Order: sequence, then structure tokens, then C-alpha cells
Amino acid sequence: MAALRLARYIEGSYWEDLAVRFAFVIKINLVGVQLINKLINMSVTTAQVEQIIAKATKFTEENPVAVGASAVVALATSIFLFRRSNMNRDGADYNSTFGAAGKILNNADHNLKGSEFHDSIADYENMFSGARQETGAITSEESIEVRKKKYADMVNHFYNLVTDFYEYGWGQSFHFGPRWHNEEFMESIKRAEYHLCSRLGMKPGMKVLDVGCGVGGPMRNMAIFSGSNIEGITINNYQVKVGNKNNASNGLSHLCKLVQGDFQNLPWADGYFDAAYEIEATCHSPDRVVTFGGVARVLKKGGLFAGYDWVVTDKYNPDNKDHVRIKEGIEVGNGLPTLATPEHIVDCLEKAGFEVLDHYDANKGVHDANQLPWYETLNGKLTLSGFRMTHLGRMVTHSFVWTLELLRIAPAGSTRVSALLNATAIDLVDGGKDEIFTPSYFFVARKK
Ligand SMILES: C[S@@+](CC[C@H](N)C(=O)[O-])C[C@H]1O[C@@H](n2cnc3c(N)ncnc32)[C@H](O)[C@@H]1O
Repeated sequence: MAALRLARYIEGSYWEDLAVRFAFVIKINLVGVQLINKLINMSVTTAQVEQIIAKATKFTEENPVAVGASAVVALATSIFLFRRSNMNRDGADYNSTFGAAGKILNNADHNLKGSEFHDSIADYENMFSGARQETGAITSEESIEVRKKKYADMVNHFYNLVTDFYEYGWGQSFHFGPRWHNEEFMESIKRAEYHLCSRLGMKPGMKVLDVGCGVGGPMRNMAIFSGSNIEGITINNYQVKVGNKNNASNGLSHLCKLVQGDFQNLPWADGYFDAAYEIEATCHSPDRVVTFGGVARVLKKGGLFAGYDWVVTDKYNPDNKDHVRIKEGIEVGNGLPTLATPEHIVDCLEKAGFEVLDHYDANKGVHDANQLPWYETLNGKLTLSGFRMTHLGRMVTHSFVWTLELLRIAPAGSTRVSALLNATAIDLVDGGKDEIFTPSYFFVARKK
């Protein structure tokens, strides 16, 4: 083990890297020493000590992030001494309880470097100008048009920023699913995927398209389950790199493949696929008739297309400011031009040349006695395995990311991304509680 580590240290620019990090540690320690010196030189009375404690308590209450972050400085300092993580991409890279968060945006696969990352978040935020400051700002026609025009950049920026956070916090399947009261989280995620396999009749030898495939979590589960050949498309190159490495390390390259491209312009020949699916991906589309029309083109005649789309339900009231606030929070936190309605999904499928066979909200029983709401995992009770997904878990991760950014391990802007995701998690929970939003509007349609 030690020999291995030594070999890694000797190759590459390790020493240069170490010197820079070491300088940081020294700088931080010097500041610390100066502070301690000041305290020692003060002759303080008991009353003053009490005053300091009261101030510190108040500071802690008002600045939980900063205090939490300080608590993990010691941990971060040890990570300091390691170069960027080389990921195995076997599905277990983020398993470790303590070291895992240090790999977010700090792994050798990540293609964005320092300032590019910062520019990415700045460009992304510009497309949602006024969001969270003024309710209604990003629901205006002009605002939606900006995002529809720039959808490719918006989505690509978004997934450059969040892919690691998603994989660390949620897993390799970037979607929700209805959950039964005695069902484990991963069981519910896989059940949503296997449901698609069953409705599409997926079996060995079939060629299936995954529209907006993320890092390929669903694709791998569905290929193992059905034996079908699955090709997925995502606009984000980092996801392609991560996904195909995972396919290889899991022995699935013969069944699964990710390609980089735009689902508004699919790069396959007419009639190439037997079936197609999308999971929480076409919500990013600037024009679903075009997206679904492309899917129809690459499907054989009679081929099935199924999916889960994000919609506002019929309980959503555009005149209710609270509803609009929640809807906009979901949009800005998830890279969406605007949320659609179920009627819009069905209409677009029909206009694109499909016969819609079935459609319904897979979360329609969200508050039934035997269901765990799809958003419950985000809301979260404290379980060790699911800790990162809970509110408290996200706060701890946020503090950690803040520290890593401060120490310049994670790129500038990382904390803003973490904050964006934390804020939207609350909106998703609120939308789910009020039943004004569902991420699982299921449909299955046949190409005419
Ligand atoms: C929420 S993720 C879902 C990923 C995957 N379906 C899953 O469940 O793990 C949305 C995906 O859609 C992809 N996407 C969005 N717009 C796209 C576009 N215009 N072309 C290709 N992929 C797109 C994103 O890159 C991302 O991979």
C-alpha cells in the first residue's frame, strides 16, 4: 500500500501540487496562531468569557454553514494532501462516508477547470435572471424564450456543475420514483426503471434508445434486467465519459453505450430502434414536438416509447404566488425552460406522430397510507445509508464543499451550485407536499 502511494507521489506534478497545498495549510495555521496569540495576550474576566461564549453561540446560530465548515476543516486538510481522485467508476467511488465528498468536482475525470467552472455557473445564473428575487420573473415569456434559445448551453452548463453532486448524493440513476412503505430507496428507483422495461416489452436482442441518459444508471439496470441493447444520448460530455467508464467496469459495454449529442437532432438512422424511453430528461426540451418527433423517426413503425416527465398538476394555480414561487424554484434549480402540463405532453406526443396508449401520474397515490412520497427521501428521516440525501446531510455536504472551495480544492463557484441544489430540494418537497408538481408523469405511446 505504502509502495503504491509512493509510486503515485513520484509520477506527474505531485510535488508541485503538494507545495501549493502545503503553502495553504501554513497560511491557515499562521492565521490561527495569530488569533490564539491575541486571545492569550488579553487579560479576560469571567464576565468577558461569558460574553464571548454568548457571542459565539449567536454566531453559530446565525452562521451554521460557516461553523459546520470549520468543523470539517481538519478533515479537508487531510484531503489536502491528496491529489485529484482517480475514480474507478465502478459504482462504488462515492461509498466512503468521509472521503467521498472530497471527490465532488475534484476528480481526474472532470473536464472543467477552475475559471471555466466559475463561468459556467455565472452563465447559468444569467439565464434565470430575477429567479428567487421576484416571483414571476422567470415565468415571463421573454425569460422562457431566453432559455429555450440557449437550452443547449443551459443544460450542458447545468450538468457540468451538478453531475458529481447527483452521483454523490443520489446515486447513478438521476430520477425519482414512487415508493412503497416497505421498499428501500434503490428498490423503488429500480422498480420505476423495470416498469418501463415491462411496458416496452424489452428483451434480449432488442435495440432501445435512452433519451437523455445521464451517467447511464438506468441504462445499466435495465440492460441487466432485460438483456436489451441500450444506446443513450446526453448533451453532456462529462456524463458520456463517466457513463461509458461505468459500462466497462461493470462488464456491460457489449449492451450499453452512451453518445454525446442533442436529443433535438438524434444522430441515428430512421427506424434504427425497436423501442425508446426517457426518464426525467425531456423536461429540459425547448420543444417537445421536435424531441418526440425525432424519437418517432428513429423508431421502427409500431415501436413503443415510454417515459416519466416533469409536470405541474391540475392543482397548480398560476394565480397563486406560492405555487409560482415553488414552480420557479424547481425550474431554476434543475435547468428547465419552464414546467409543462400533462395535457401538453400528450398533445406533443400526438403531434409528433404517436398514438398515446396510456398516461397518468405514477405518483398519484403519493399521500396514500402505504406509500412513501417520492420527495420523502429529500425531506428525509435520519438513516445512516440515506444521510446525504436528507436536509441535514445536504447541509453537511454544503459545509464541506464550502471548505473545499475555500481551500481551492473544489473550483470557485462550487458552493453556489451546492446552494442552488439545496434550495431546489426544498421547492421539490413543497411542490410534492402540495401535489402541484410530479416528476413522474408516465406515458407510453406507439409510433403510428
Ligand atoms: C435528470 S437527468 C436524467 C438522466 C437519466 N435519464 C437518469 O434518470 O439517470 C436529464 C438528462 O437529460 C439530458 N439532456 C437534457 N437535454 C438534452 C438534450 N437537448 N440533448 C441530450 N440530452 C439532454 C441531460 O444531459 C441529462 O443527462
